[in-house]
Amino acid sequence: MSERTRRDVLSWMAVATTTGGLLGCGGGSSSTGGADAAGGARLDGGHDDAGRDDAGRDPDADLADAAPPHRGAADAASDTGAADAARADAAPPATCDPTRPDAQGPFFQAGAPARTQLAADDEPGDALEISGVVRGPDCAPLAGALLDVWQADVNGDYHDAGADYRLRGQVVTDAEGRYAFRSIVPGRYPLGGSTRPAHVHFMVSHPGHRPVTTQMYFAGDPFLAPDDPCTAGCDSGDPARIVELTDRAGVMTGTFDITLGA
Ligand SMILES: [Fe+2]
Repeated sequence: MSERTRRDVLSWMAVATTTGGLLGCGGGSSSTGGADAAGGARLDGGHDDAGRDDAGRDPDADLADAAPPHRGAADAASDTGAADAARADAAPPATCDPTRPDAQGPFFQAGAPARTQLAADDEPGDALEISGVVRGPDCAPLAGALLDVWQADVNGDYHDAGADYRLRGQVVTDAEGRYAFRSIVPGRYPLGGSTRPAHVHFMVSHPGHRPVTTQMYFAGDPFLAPDDPCTAGCDSGDPARIVELTDRAGVMTGTFDITLGA
């Protein structure tokens, strides 16, 4: 990644006021190279977590400043297994409140492949590694929970199934409820004259538990609520869904635990 983008990301993170958590809210946003299977939203530049046309999108708008820094996913060198191992030693929480839902947005697409590397080696952007534990409301880890994950690229655009489910994938928790995947830090996108905070979409399910569709945000993002322009079901101010990233050998690494209701 360039020195400029590195500085950008570090300054972006430096203003973090919320730490340790994971769940926030937010609507989906997207733009793909084709039609949006989920709601007819524009594919080539439109974004709107609520499925509206993005009348406010200016192609040249603040993307340069709004998009978080990125580096090649191929540079991702960290080991998700190591991250999982570290998590296994962590004490379970005393209480587990169900993860709050967030707007699904119009760009979910079913049928994403099972994989823990969501970004191809040549995907532009800063390497990202997210890991965590999926639990039930009694805090017991849930083995075999399914996480359907999707996100925007470095420019804030989404890509559909026809693009090899770019930046999409399904991840399953192990026997101890742990999951991990690698991707790139998603870009932000303009909405309604402002900018949505960067986010990753999750749809999480497990037999016998209530599924949740939500979004994960990043600490220090200046566009988190109350400055998030998405007000249609978005809630990017939930500290439990705001993840603090740590630069580990060039990989922006964070933890996002999820709790499903009964
Ligand atoms: Fe989105």
